[in-house]
Amino acid sequence: MPEESNVVVYPARTVRGVVRIPGDKSISHRYAMLAAIAEGTSRFQNFSAARDCQSTLDCVAKLGSGWKQQEDGAIEVFGVGLRLNPPAKVLDCGNSGSTMRMLSGILAGQPFPSELCGDESLSRRPMARIMKPLSEMGAKIEAAEGGRPPLKIQGGALKAIHYKPEVASAQVKSCVLFAGLFAEGETVVEEPIRTRDHGEIALRAFGADVERKGNASRILGGQRLRAIEAHVPGDLSSAAFFLCAAALFPGSQITLPGILMNPTRARLLDILIQMGLKVSVAHLEEHQGELVGTIEAHGAAWKGTVIAGADTAALIDEIPVLAAVAPYTDGGLEVCDAKELRVKESDRIAAVAVNLRKMGAEVEERPDGMKVPGGQHLHGAEVDSFGDHRIAMAFAVAALRAEGETTIHGADAAGVSYPRFFEELRSVTSSG
Ligand code: S3P
Repeated sequence: MPEESNVVVYPARTVRGVVRIPGDKSISHRYAMLAAIAEGTSRFQNFSAARDCQSTLDCVAKLGSGWKQQEDGAIEVFGVGLRLNPPAKVLDCGNSGSTMRMLSGILAGQPFPSELCGDESLSRRPMARIMKPLSEMGAKIEAAEGGRPPLKIQGGALKAIHYKPEVASAQVKSCVLFAGLFAEGETVVEEPIRTRDHGEIALRAFGADVERKGNASRILGGQRLRAIEAHVPGDLSSAAFFLCAAALFPGSQITLPGILMNPTRARLLDILIQMGLKVSVAHLEEHQGELVGTIEAHGAAWKGTVIAGADTAALIDEIPVLAAVAPYTDGGLEVCDAKELRVKESDRIAAVAVNLRKMGAEVEERPDGMKVPGGQHLHGAEVDSFGDHRIAMAFAVAALRAEGETTIHGADAAGVSYPRFFEELRSVTSSG
């Protein structure tokens, strides 16, 4: 990987075309992990091309569950059942918090020690949120100062718990439910706000019984998983960049086939519609319990809104791009209850504020959110990805309506979730 990878983005006149968005990252991680502990060979079409999901595949391979990419592009994972093999080396999770947090749930149930590490950004991210429940279940976990990676896990016999996480986090929920597979009794996770339910849906697809009532999900320990074949739906969080790009130009039109429509993720579409984007969804289908559809969107008037409470949790990955394009709205954007954004791959509140200011925008940064006034004119600038994929892509979109060119430093970070992002963006934008 080059030390510094810059991409120049030129202003566009319109956005038009069809983009085939790669498989959802959240689902791909869960499929790879559950396939590793299932019996038999699982096969996944449209598995995420993200570097993060590659980290998960590399980790499960070190735990004895090989995988292979077939000629048709499908990923096959050779499951070894609930008992994995002790890893000979440290499990490198790269930039992926999902890999570290969710895999820890599975490792907590294994009768061997393992160690997980990550890159510079992941090494700064909080792990106490998974250490607490897993320790309560009986695993021994050590971390560096402040509950940061690397993690050392000594797994073994686990007991079921009823866990009420303080933060709304789907990674924590999946981690505890995965550990629940190895625990004696019924494990319950009761979340403060409903988060994405791909963990529950994937567990069911692999044959486990998972019950969901209100905000509580329950799983009985000792259930065996069986391999599946699945087509991973296109990632709605990646689609968000193209939807926001289309929203910038009245008259633009974008078609995104086969996109994840899971209701715990699709709040984004309601918000975009509220902001003025014309959206229709066709060809709704279900794949292994996940809803999928083709999105067609047309740019029209672009209005502002407020994102708070449960919406903030539902849109947590899309807020950077919504904020980056907010100066072009009529009315601006206010983001509340978003403290979690400060502990993502970068401090996303600070990163958005710094870059927007470089482009000449006015922004009010708050401890748990931001306010971006609308009706602003931005100019091209030298902005930084801060090593964060979503920041790199968010500012590529913001740059489309700025005056003059924008250079995105560290643009290669986009590969963490979307390696072909810049090519695809170029293919649907016409400059002028
Ligand atoms: C994810 C959950 C969210 C999200 C992340 C993926 C998941 O993180 O930001 O990109 O797949 O469960 P948190 O669980 O930390 O909120």
